[in-house]
Amino acid sequence: MHSKAFSTLFIGRPTISLDTIDSTNTYAQELLSKSNPSEGTAIFTQNQTAGKGQYGRVWVSEDTKNIAVSIILKPIFLLPKESYYLNLIAALAVSELIENYIDKEIFIKWPNDIYVKQKKISGILIENTMSNARLQSSVLGIGINVNQTDFDPNIPNPTSFVMENSHVNNCVELVNELFTLVEKYYLKLKRREYDFLYAEYDKRLYLKNSLSPFVVKGIEQNGIIRGIDKQGMLKLETKTGLLTLGLNEIQYKLS
Ligand code: BTN
Repeated sequence: MHSKAFSTLFIGRPTISLDTIDSTNTYAQELLSKSNPSEGTAIFTQNQTAGKGQYGRVWVSEDTKNIAVSIILKPIFLLPKESYYLNLIAALAVSELIENYIDKEIFIKWPNDIYVKQKKISGILIENTMSNARLQSSVLGIGINVNQTDFDPNIPNPTSFVMENSHVNNCVELVNELFTLVEKYYLKLKRREYDFLYAEYDKRLYLKNSLSPFVVKGIEQNGIIRGIDKQGMLKLETKTGLLTLGLNEIQYKLS
C-alpha cells in the first residue's frame, strides 16, 4: 500500500545520508556556514548520537530504529515575525505522514510536537537565521520514532510507529514520503495559503476546546485551548479571560 514512488521538485535534492552523526541540525548549520547548499538539501541519519531537542533538551534515539532528518529551507519571502509559519508546515507534513500509517487520532501539541492520542511520536526543532530583517535560512529538524520500543523512563509519554502497530521496514521510503509532504505544505506557504494552513493546524490542535490543567506564567490553573493567533501564539481561555501565550509562558500538565 505504501510502495508508491515519491518524487519532489527540490526537497531532499540532494539528501546527504550519514551512517552516524551527532546532530543532523548541527550538520546542516555547518553546511550553511561554510557553503551555499541549495534549498531543499536534506541531511538524514538513523544513528543520531547527540540530537538536539527544544528548550536546549536532548533528543534521544536508539541506533538504526528511527528517523532523524534536517531540511534546509531559504524562506526569504518571510519576515522574521512570520517565521511561525515554518512550524505550521513542518507539523502539518509530519502529521499527514503519520496519518497515512496510523489509524488513530493524530494531534499537534502546540507548537509542534506530534502526538498519537496522548503520546509523542515526533519532535520538531526549527532553527532560523535572519539577516536584513528577512529569514535567510531555516533548518527544519524532524525526529520520528519508528521502530523503537524501549525508551528512557524519563521521557514522559513516548510512542513509535511499531508501538502503534504500524510496521515500517524501509525508513528511506518513509523519509521520501515526508519530503513530498514538506514540499506540498512549503509550496502552499509560498503561495500564502495561510487560511488553509491555519485551518489544517487548528483541527489537529491537541487539547483544543477541552478544559485541561496547565502552568501559566508559573501558576497552576485550568484552561481551555481555543486556537493559535496569527503570530503563532497559543490562545487559552481561563477564569481571568482569554490569554495569548508565548512559548515560555505555558507548560502542559498533561504532557
Ligand atoms: C523536541 O521535541 O524537543 C524536538 C526534537 C527534534 C529532534 C530532531 S532529530 C533531527 C534534528 N536534529 C537534531 O539534532 N534535532 C532534530
